[in-house]
Amino acid sequence: MFDLTGRVALVTGAGQGVGAGIAHQLARMGAAVAVNDLVGERADAIAKAIVEAGAQARGFAFDVSDWAAVEAGVKAVETELGAIDILVNNAGVPAGMAMTKFRDTQPADWAPYIDINVYGVLHCCKAVVDGMCERGFGRVITISSGAGTAGVGIGVAAYGAGKGGGIGFMRNLALEVAADGVTANSIALGLMNNVPEEAVPTLAHSVPVGRLGDPAEIGACCVYLASNEASWMTGQTLQLNGGSVTT
Ligand SMILES: NC(=O)c1ccc[n+]([C@@H]2O[C@H](COP(=O)([O-])OP(=O)(O)OC[C@H]3O[C@@H](n4cnc5c(N)ncnc54)[C@H](O)[C@@H]3O)[C@@H](O)[C@H]2O)c1
Repeated sequence: MFDLTGRVALVTGAGQGVGAGIAHQLARMGAAVAVNDLVGERADAIAKAIVEAGAQARGFAFDVSDWAAVEAGVKAVETELGAIDILVNNAGVPAGMAMTKFRDTQPADWAPYIDINVYGVLHCCKAVVDGMCERGFGRVITISSGAGTAGVGIGVAAYGAGKGGGIGFMRNLALEVAADGVTANSIALGLMNNVPEEAVPTLAHSVPVGRLGDPAEIGACCVYLASNEASWMTGQTLQLNGGSVTT
């Protein structure tokens, strides 16, 4: 079950944090993983760690918010590793992300959150989905946030707009490609453990299971969604958050 041998996966923003955990888990289950990041050194370091663990990976540096860069990056992945079967849109935190009340922001502040979480997702999907439909198999997973499905009140309104936009797109994409063997799902994450150490106890206290999420746990959920066994799961938004939001 959940064997990904022979599959090629692209994970965006995977040079650290959640994306790195996803890349490791997909590779552990047999996929050849294209580790994307805006920062090439990060992508290469994670790919190296995956290879040292005995699995297959390569680093690919490109900016998901730049269509020409995505087109070229996906071509490079397909030349090096083969046609992409699994896309995980994980990149979603622009450099310098700040928590500021909406009333204290200006229009010029909002673009990075929309560029990465809406255009980034659309660009990567556009670059891979035709091939997936032609081959009759594809798995698209977008990493979203509780801020995209509910108000969180911590000064991330523009980020929430981007995250909610990505979910709305995925729901519609799912219906357009369902008959072609391609699934499209989102995962709305709660609080993860890649925060400054001093913030962990307070944040963990607010999570019903009593701890923050680990990237490997998000990777495990992606392994399921990427698998043959998940062919009837599409158009959904999974809440993965230690019980912070229940549905
Ligand atoms: N960390 C959390 O608590 C949390 C909570 C909810 C949702 N999320 C979501 O999980 C995902 C990963 O978050 P994280 O905390 O691991 O982020 P992170 O900031 O630790 O890492 C993100 C990586 O993405 C890369 N990146 C940034 N812009 C990029 C671009 N334009 N193109 C390609 N790569 C780019 C960065 O260089 C960085 O290596 C994001 O979609 C985020 O919104 C995170």
